[in-house]
Amino acid sequence: MILVTGGAGFIGANFVRLFLSGGKGEEVINVDRLTYAGNIENVRDLDSSKHIFVHGDIGGRNLMRDLLDRYRPRAVLNFAAESHVDRSIDSAGEFIQTNVVGLFNLLEAVRAYWSSLPDSGDLSRDTFRFLQVSTDEVYGSLAPDEPAFAESNAFQPNSPYSASKAAGDHLVRAWHHTYGLPTVTTNCSNNYGPYQFPEKLIPLAVLNALAGKPIPIYGDGQQIRDWLYVEDHCRAILRALEAGTPGEVYNVGGDNERRNLEVVHALCGVLDRLRPKQDGTSYAEQICFVKDRPGHDRRYAVDSRKAAKELGWRPEEGFESGLERTIAWYLANGDWVAGIQTGAYREWVKTHYGEYA
Ligand code: NAD
Ligand code: DAU
Repeated sequence: MILVTGGAGFIGANFVRLFLSGGKGEEVINVDRLTYAGNIENVRDLDSSKHIFVHGDIGGRNLMRDLLDRYRPRAVLNFAAESHVDRSIDSAGEFIQTNVVGLFNLLEAVRAYWSSLPDSGDLSRDTFRFLQVSTDEVYGSLAPDEPAFAESNAFQPNSPYSASKAAGDHLVRAWHHTYGLPTVTTNCSNNYGPYQFPEKLIPLAVLNALAGKPIPIYGDGQQIRDWLYVEDHCRAILRALEAGTPGEVYNVGGDNERRNLEVVHALCGVLDRLRPKQDGTSYAEQICFVKDRPGHDRRYAVDSRKAAKELGWRPEEGFESGLERTIAWYLANGDWVAGIQTGAYREWVKTHYGEYA
């Protein structure tokens, strides 16, 4: 079996679903603290004999050590994080707590478990993997004509979020270099797809458009992001788990650089087709420019040639088709959206965990 952290969040939930649909029969232990971004509805329908959900914090070293000793996973994949740049600007404490201190405690629990494994065999120090899910934002921001981020680029994080992720990546590197822990790190570009919490650009714009609210564009809207459909990211993580070399880092990107304004216009175009407005106007008329994000990174672009060469991974979903799939998912999953908008998705946590919620 494998142990996943943060598997009730956007990418973690998509990963758990992809992993369990692979048909190998391997079980998943899913440890998630269920912060505002964690949603049990993202995984509630999964077969409970294959998906074991544990409400817990990666920073709880004893809990993590107990789970590792009890379930003896062949790998730990860390998706758990505070992930939203704007929140990190308003209040960085939780980002340091989870993405740095929490990760340190997780690494220590994993190192203790890993040290207890035999030298060789099916489950051994040799076969075990710790996979850290990280971001392209650790590399900073690119000028328009600069080449895409390669794994050899220096870290130049610009936001509290990216600084906390960069610190985490350094810890992972050091735990490999000093203790020999077999780690693999992936640094990925902007994901989009089903189950993404509507604080991030694409789901926020879709839901605001449908609600007749303004669609906020920060600054001039000319910032560039590289977009990757979440299932493609999850497939890259699977390949990194199975074929990645311990101690290595793999950049993962969609080769889909788009300006924010282009993304939002494309999304409005899809909505105009799939859910035309009664008054015949376009959703694009709801676009409005708002105050820029402080320290806003101008451009990200990712060179994924190493992942292609060493992992045999390539993205399969195009941006236009992926965007349409994503929007169709939000349109078809009104209950999921309503659960978030009313806060009902958090009721389960309160009912099940009472004062710990
Ligand atoms: P998310 O915010 O949707 O989900 C994060 C999950 O982690 C939530 O379920 C939350 O409850 C859980 N969590 C938070 N703190 C925890 C803790 N202390 N212990 C246990 N669980 C905790 O984030 P996401 O977009 O799914 O991102 C997942 C990972 O991928 C993050 O590490 C993020 O940095 C990275 N990443 C995200 C993107 C993207 O575009 N979303 C791109 C590249 C990398
Ligand atoms: O690059 C990978 C990163 O992508 C991940 O590590 C982060 O976890 C993830 O949140 C994402 O970070 P961004 O800051 O790029 O994503 P976000 O969706 O918040 O914003 C995308 C772009 O859109 C960014 O340039 C800011 C802009 N934006 C965002 C929002 C929410 C707007 O113009 N308006 C908005 O309302």
